[in-house]
Amino acid sequence: MAIEKTLSIIKPDAVERNLQESFIQRFKKEGFKILAKKEALLTKEEAQDFYIEHKGKVFYESLVNYMTSGPVVLMVLERENAILKNREVMGATNPKDAAPGTLRKEYAVSLEKNSVHGSDSPASAAREVEFFFPELVKCC
Ligand code: CDP
Ligand code: MG
Repeated sequence: MAIEKTLSIIKPDAVERNLQESFIQRFKKEGFKILAKKEALLTKEEAQDFYIEHKGKVFYESLVNYMTSGPVVLMVLERENAILKNREVMGATNPKDAAPGTLRKEYAVSLEKNSVHGSDSPASAAREVEFFFPELVKCC
């Protein structure tokens, strides 16, 4: 299986509760390398653009407000099969449906405040890594 990169975001509800280290330890334990990491307060424009695929959905505006409500931790994770593996470690979008032992089952507050983001496909991983870490994407 191929070595992949994926974008992870520790969302405001988790940063607010100081859960960064617990999440990072979990990712390391699952064999991910943290290739890049930075804390940021997203602007409204960044959050709108990042979640553009959801524009027009009922939850879009609230999601953008939530994602700009406090600092997030942005990370590029790398390992074999990273995109799918990260989605497994995160658990289902709705914490009510998330499997035991997943980050969302353990930490999420609600469907919206579900503590963590992860790219959902190779195409979105490529887009999302470049979105926040353009310097990691080789050019020329
Ligand atoms: O984050 P994930 O890829 O699992 O789910 P998504 O369908 O891409 O939705 C992006 C984010 O929007 C979710 O992680 C939730 O924070 C939020 N959301 C929501 O508030 N209400 C929904 N019905 C669906 C998603
Ligand atoms: Mg998604």
